[in-house]
Order: sequence, then C-alpha cells, then structure tokens
Amino acid sequence: MSRVAYVNGRYVPFVDAAVHIEDRGYQFADGVYEVMAVRDGRLADLELHLDRLDRSLVELHMETAMSRRALAVVFEEIVRRNRVANGIVYLQMTRGVAKRDHAFPHNCKTSVVVTARNVPPRPAAIIEKGVRVVTVPDIRWKRCDIKSVSLLPNVLAKQRAKGAGAYEAWMVDEDGHVTEGSSTNAWIVERSGDLITRHLDNAILSGITRMVVSDLAMKQQRRLVERPFTLEEAEAASEAFLTSTTSFVTPVVQINDVSVGTGTPGPVTQALHDLYDEHLSGQ
Ligand code: PDD
Repeated sequence: MSRVAYVNGRYVPFVDAAVHIEDRGYQFADGVYEVMAVRDGRLADLELHLDRLDRSLVELHMETAMSRRALAVVFEEIVRRNRVANGIVYLQMTRGVAKRDHAFPHNCKTSVVVTARNVPPRPAAIIEKGVRVVTVPDIRWKRCDIKSVSLLPNVLAKQRAKGAGAYEAWMVDEDGHVTEGSSTNAWIVERSGDLITRHLDNAILSGITRMVVSDLAMKQQRRLVERPFTLEEAEAASEAFLTSTTSFVTPVVQINDVSVGTGTPGPVTQALHDLYDEHLSGQ
C-alpha cells in the first residue's frame, strides 16, 4: 500500500508530497506542529492537541490554515487512507510561501501538511527494564511553551543521547534544574511518594501526555507537585519517568551513570503506565 500525505488542500502520493523552497518553515522554521497518537484507528486526545495548536498559532501571530472541524476531518481521512491502526498523525502549519524577508509577509497563506504512519509496538524491554537518560545543558530559546518546528537544540540533544546509547536527553537549565527531555516531559517520584514535574512556564512544552497523566495521578489520590527539580533530586528520587505522545509513560532507571531507586521500574511509574494505556484504549 502506498502512503498518502495531505498538502495544502490535496491528498497526494507521499513520494510526491512537497512544499515550495521559499516556504517560511523551510527558511526560518517559522511554523508549528503537533504529533498525535493513533490507537486502534482512533486519534487520542484530539481536542487537547487542537487547543495547544491554537495557542501556538496565537503566540506566533499566525493564521490557522483551516477550522478545527476541517482539520479533524483531514486527520480521520489521512488515518484511513494510510490504514493506520496504531501510530501517529503529524500536522505542520507554517506561515506560508513568500520572498525571503524576516518580517511577516503580507497576504501569506498558511501552509498545512498532514502525514500519518503506523508505528510498530515498542520493545517490551523498554517498559519492563526502563531506559537511561543523559543530561545536556538546556540551550534553547525562552519560548519552549510554543510547539515550534524550530527544534535544532532538541535535535542536538537527542543525537547526544543516541551517541551515548541512551533513550533520551534531559535538559538542565542554568540553575541546575531539569526542564524536560528533548521530546518528552520529565518526572520524578520522591521517597514520600509525591510526584514532581516542572510547573508550566516558558521553559517547557505543556505536554498533552503530561496533562493526561497528571489528571490520572490525581484521580488516584496521588500528590502531584508542579515545581522545578534539580538533577541531584532526580538522582536521589525513588523513581523517574518520562512522558510523550510517542513514548507514553516510560520508566527512567538511570540518569547518566547513576541508578534511580532500585535501578528497575518502580510501582508508581508502572501504575501510571497502565492507567495511561487504558486511557488510550478507552478513547
Ligand atoms: N514531542 N517536550 C517536548 C520538547 C516535546 O517535543 C514533546 C513532544 C513533549 C511531550 O508532549 P506530548 O505529550 O504532547 O507529546 C514535551 C513530540 C512527540 C515530537 O516532537 O515528536
């Protein structure tokens, strides 16, 4: 079966899908994106992703390419046409095509691209054994709350993790606080059982998985404290984990060369993993 992409109003064969060389996404990374999970052919947490998309667009003074309803129709169609059962939908909107000039162009039409693909199930070892993260300095700009396609520091961080044989890189700010991962949010479980994850501000992305897992944790009467935590606190925690649309809830058992807790996935992480999995299945 050949893949299909949605590009500016048309469904086109994936191999032919293209945008213009003067698209501002290509020249300035002047655009935003969303990654949504597909479980059993259905999109997970669509409204939450559309809310975040709207916010990113507003923050960058960018017009939306189409209504929420129209976007939802395209997402469903792209899932159907690509026969996605379990995988992801990727949406990107950029400010459009214009002569290269930094300031916003006049009468520019927002470009929109939507793709979808199946993602094979993750190796069971990731959940059963957990993963290692390495730490890198957080060298990003001061608007990490916007889901912008400008991801170069994140790319470099993930490559550092890959080179070190780790699953993810956790970024540490100038005060020694862990902000988030290169494409995931970071969490620890203190010895008291309290869950800690950084509060929402301009230093991190408001992850949809973070939001859903926070709700699930609170429904379980768990205490959740949203505050910055240091690398030393993370190393001394009883558990750690990371969350994202593509990583779900993933136990972190080692930070650099330091084992977290027992060095195996802990009960709180496992419980949240299972609850989040039920959440995805129940949509
Ligand atoms: N990344 N922080 C960053 C910097 C991210 O890029 C992401 C998502 C998250 C988690 O957000 P969510 O739970 O909504 O997926 C946190 C996506 C998956 C990506 O870039 O592929």
